[in-house]
Amino acid sequence: MQDFQQDKDTAAREIKRMIFDVQSFISAVFKFKEPLGPGTNSELKLRIVEVKGGEAWQFTRASESENLQRGEAMKKLSEIIHGVPLSEAHVMTADRDLHCRVTKKGRVLLSRSKSNLNRDPVASRAHNREKDYPLTRFDSAKLLVVIGLADTQGDVKPTMRAKYRQVNEFLRIIDATLDDLKLEAIKPIELFDVGCGKSYLSFSAKAYLEATRGVEIKLTGIGRSEKIIQSCRRMTGSFGWDDSVAKFIASDIAAFKPAAEPDIVMSLHACDTATDEAMAFGVEHSARAILCAPCCQHELQSQLGTTGRNRAVLRNGILRERLADILTDAFRAQILRVMGYRAYVVEFIEPEATARNIMIRAVRASRAGSETAIAEYLDLRDEWVCTPYLANRLSGICPELI
Ligand SMILES: C[S@@+](CC[C@H](N)C(=O)[O-])C[C@H]1O[C@@H](n2cnc3c(N)ncnc32)[C@H](O)[C@@H]1O
Repeated sequence: MQDFQQDKDTAAREIKRMIFDVQSFISAVFKFKEPLGPGTNSELKLRIVEVKGGEAWQFTRASESENLQRGEAMKKLSEIIHGVPLSEAHVMTADRDLHCRVTKKGRVLLSRSKSNLNRDPVASRAHNREKDYPLTRFDSAKLLVVIGLADTQGDVKPTMRAKYRQVNEFLRIIDATLDDLKLEAIKPIELFDVGCGKSYLSFSAKAYLEATRGVEIKLTGIGRSEKIIQSCRRMTGSFGWDDSVAKFIASDIAAFKPAAEPDIVMSLHACDTATDEAMAFGVEHSARAILCAPCCQHELQSQLGTTGRNRAVLRNGILRERLADILTDAFRAQILRVMGYRAYVVEFIEPEATARNIMIRAVRASRAGSETAIAEYLDLRDEWVCTPYLANRLSGICPELI
């Protein structure tokens, strides 16, 4: 019988390299030819989870899971894959897959494929979290009382629990997004919350990132309700923050001219095309990251009409509405790719909490958008015979969009 040990060692090295690349690893499944121990089966699942103080590799066998730090995880994985005969493995990273199969004769067959799915390792990791809320990682008592999530005793108000969870999920995403940016080059960080409302999220982001990362966040909030902006200004006063570190401006997003260039533009649940205005604002000012959770969307629906090849879907009001939501977000993410961003569409909070749980997370890439991104955008546009608001909005700087 031929000795395939060398092939096995090469495959094991490649598998380990993919699994311990913290920036891109998503998950892995191993099937072995024997059970992994008494009372367990022959399957092992691995993924990265967020735990206090960073990431851990979670090993799941049958219904038992254990989280291990990098060094221990490497040791354990080596013990398992060198100790029990492997049957197959599938490793997924952000941009590629590796399939490994070991034949009965011990031959190692490897197949590698590039993933054309936009998998966001940051979001999948945030979903795999332990119940450790970012708002508990620092002294957030004053923040929670001032922004109205907690009562004067410091307890989260029952009516604000959903918002409390939403803020925590958002903090995980902005925290991980900061890892994607070259932090040292952009200190202090200019954070713009456009369509800020009561600014629960951006006040929390400033307090959390400053407390846990030692960075300085300069916050600018923009909203069109003068009354709400006044209440945000009162809150900045309660924190003892002056205009140089947190300012709030009553303005329509489209009319707003920033005094400083934004590093991060965030906009959560700003109505209809206000999300497009927020994205256009980010792109036009070369923001390094854009985080938008869209709200209600009406603009594209009217363009879709009720006739044509897809009339069986479009004639049904509910389906047309949902389809328009999906297409609007698909267009937005694709336009951001055309504009040179790495854009991901993720669920940032569980769907039970709110139906508006989609977030478009975009990080400016080092290269301009590719011809493929433009071609994919044009295919989508031509398929649905419509021109999204954001395309019109950005056509001045990117005429290919219309
Ligand atoms: C649903 S609230 C969300 C507030 C906040 N972002 C949050 O998630 O808690 C939407 C806010 O966006 C503001 N808004 C909507 N369209 C806007 C526009 N075009 N310009 C400025 N503010 C806008 C509204 O006044 C409102 O306060």
